[in-house]
Amino acid sequence: MSDKAKSDSKSGGLAGVVVGNTSVCTVGKEGHSLLYRGYSVNDLAEHATFEEVAYLLLEGELPGAAQLADYRVRLKAQRDIPQPIKDILEKLPADAHPMDVLRTACSALGCVEPETADNTLEKITDRLLGIFPSFLMYWYHFSHSGKRIDTDTPENSIAGHFLHLLNGQSPSELQERACDASLTLYAEHGFNASTFAGRVAVSTLADSYSGITAAIGTLSGPLHGGANEQAMALIEKFKDPDDAEAGILKALAAKQKIMGFGHRVYKIRDPRSDVIKGWSKKLADSLGDDKLYQISVRVEEVMMREKKMFPNLDFFSASAYHQMGIPTELFTPIFVFARTAGWIAHIIEQRVDNKLIRPSAQYIGPEPRTWLPIEQR
Ligand code: COA
Repeated sequence: MSDKAKSDSKSGGLAGVVVGNTSVCTVGKEGHSLLYRGYSVNDLAEHATFEEVAYLLLEGELPGAAQLADYRVRLKAQRDIPQPIKDILEKLPADAHPMDVLRTACSALGCVEPETADNTLEKITDRLLGIFPSFLMYWYHFSHSGKRIDTDTPENSIAGHFLHLLNGQSPSELQERACDASLTLYAEHGFNASTFAGRVAVSTLADSYSGITAAIGTLSGPLHGGANEQAMALIEKFKDPDDAEAGILKALAAKQKIMGFGHRVYKIRDPRSDVIKGWSKKLADSLGDDKLYQISVRVEEVMMREKKMFPNLDFFSASAYHQMGIPTELFTPIFVFARTAGWIAHIIEQRVDNKLIRPSAQYIGPEPRTWLPIEQR
């Protein structure tokens, strides 16, 4: 690679490049804030439910009481899985990654209930928000124990519905509130990689399922949504905070990345981290076992001291989800339940003022060459 190409590639990954307009959210203004449609994510996580937040992202305004009640009823009516999708889910192996399962189910739903003039994006939005927990848990129970679960539950919230399907009973109020707040924190994040992938897909005039399928695949990687699972794998290795400190120092000396730390946009801190950290502490206290929480706090301290790096949302989400009794491989799919609201808000925005997204690249390959017949190569 030439010196010029090397120096230009430092701005790779589109870091700092403005690629479009959005009115859905602002990320990282003054290095640390996150606003959904002008509202601070911290206020929303404290005072609103995820359904209010999804409505805000999709409609642009917070719902009134009657609108929210109606919205909950609409979402609740979307939980049944069509038989052809159940058949597909039953064929997927138990060791498939749950993100691959959601990606497959979303794509298959696009065949069974395609986007049409009647089946509008508005209807598909409700459908996907309502049905994703059902897809995941139907496959999970069938593949792990052969049980065909009923995906209808009495729970009014998506968080409660998911936890009920997971455990076969209503969650505690603390578990439901913690899970609900985490959905709010994960709901939207500007032109992150998965949202951008979704916008690129629909900018070709592909259907909305293609956009969401592309987004799910993009979210699955460990540098994006998969980081919460990797953070769990890291913290559960340690037996206590001192062990964690020694392990992190060793990993840093070996120039390894610590999953759940660092961020492309935030420069001072991730405003979502303290919220989920608070829920992780409450869950630890309720269990009477704060080992994982204390290990996480020590990792946070060591990373700040050694690297001046702060945790992103994924780091304390790991201990919070674990303490809610959620298996690690289901962490990233929860991100899908939430981010579907943000993805679709962006798909709507992309369609309103669409232009094919097709950037250019700087060519760094060979100069033009003369064709050689095969016997002369
Ligand atoms: N642990 C240790 N060092 C890290 C780090 C981490 N989690 N994240 C970044 N760094 C270091 C890099 O090694 C690099 O150091 P160098 O300049 O000495 O080579 C420097 O910080 C810049 O990192 P880079 O990966 O180029 O920054 P980026 O803007 O491309 O990356 C992330 C942003 C989020 C991809 C990156 O911080 C990361 O991989 N974090 C872990 C995965 C994660 O938590 N993802 C969820 C994001 S919400």
